[in-house]
Amino acid sequence: MKITVSVIKADIGGFVGHSSTHPEVVAKVKEYAEAGCEKGLLLDASVITCGDDIAIVMTHTKGKDNEEVHKLAWDAFVAGTEVAKKLKLYGAGQDLLADAFSGNVKGMGPGVAEMEFEERKSEPIIVFFADKTSPSAWNLPLYEMFADPMNTAGLVIDPSMHDGFSFEVMDVYSGKVVKLETPRELYDLLVFIGATSRYVVRAVYRNRDGEIAAAASTQKLSLMAGRYVGKDDPVLIVRAQSGFPAVGEVLEPFARPWLVEGWMRGSHTGPLMPVSFKEAKPTRFDGPPRVIAAGYQICEGKLIGPNDLFDDPAFDDARNRCAILANQLRRQGIFEPHRLPPEEMEYTTLPKVLEKLKDRFVDVGEPEAKAPGSGEGEIAE
Ligand code: F6R
Ligand code: MG
Ligand code: MG
Repeated sequence: MKITVSVIKADIGGFVGHSSTHPEVVAKVKEYAEAGCEKGLLLDASVITCGDDIAIVMTHTKGKDNEEVHKLAWDAFVAGTEVAKKLKLYGAGQDLLADAFSGNVKGMGPGVAEMEFEERKSEPIIVFFADKTSPSAWNLPLYEMFADPMNTAGLVIDPSMHDGFSFEVMDVYSGKVVKLETPRELYDLLVFIGATSRYVVRAVYRNRDGEIAAAASTQKLSLMAGRYVGKDDPVLIVRAQSGFPAVGEVLEPFARPWLVEGWMRGSHTGPLMPVSFKEAKPTRFDGPPRVIAAGYQICEGKLIGPNDLFDDPAFDDARNRCAILANQLRRQGIFEPHRLPPEEMEYTTLPKVLEKLKDRFVDVGEPEAKAPGSGEGEIAE
């Protein structure tokens, strides 16, 4: 059976501040998801949360970008927003940018990750869900899962994976997408996806047969490119086992923490902490950024799960190291590189302060330098 997995997420109100969700809001969203199953639109649905965000994981047979499925998620978030408003939760309805639904939630605020495939004899998938960071947080782990043999042994020793995977990469400023095949074009791929403020991986395909392997929520960024390319507390769907990385290979990148953009006011660098569902509550300096891993076995379209995959003491060391990294970074307060460079910050007073002080900047006869990163004449002989 060909099924579609659609994960649609939004922040519709925080409890308390931006740290978590309220049970009554989550219950309302669940009510709508269940109604979607009862009326036969969905095969199944599961509602998960991370920090102040709620995701509806849905299975159905209607394909990607289906209007009815997207509308169901939109209506669920609108109804949840009503509850959030009633409780005066913080930022109630903050991600519902449009006044009314029009065909597809993309560009309307919520984040979307979707994939369609023929359900295998056994179909394990993992839905990653992060708070206080951006979709580019998936660049490094996706590279390790699907292109780094030091992470994924199967790339070397499993004949069904040995042909490698291709990455679809989006330039968030132009909205354009390029597909690159690994291992052949690995170094070209890394030129782009190492530049996390500009390039994000949006999908991964298996070279052998073009099967979809992973899909991330970046569409909102492409539609808003040119206007807004900010943080977007992302989701990611990854298929595992039998020709895809094993569950343990998919999870392995998260055992070694790295730094991502986001955290307080979307304007800081911080470690991405892999946590169990109950620990997905970023409180320290509104962080550090969190990620959960919800595992499902799909059975005739039904979502068997979720299984809380980071609820494992084997990830305690990663969590501790994130806490140590957080301490180290916090030591730098408002100074870069803990605070992001001006063009990456979600909040800034720089233009106002510059404007206020513009007449006090005096020319002392130094030549003007080109802006860094312009690419002109930068390679030293
Ligand atoms: C980051 C985030 C929070 C808020 C911060 C200030 O993604 O959501 O860190 O930016 O709590 O929030 P406001 O401006 O709503 O007071
Ligand atoms: Mg929020
Ligand atoms: Mg959030």
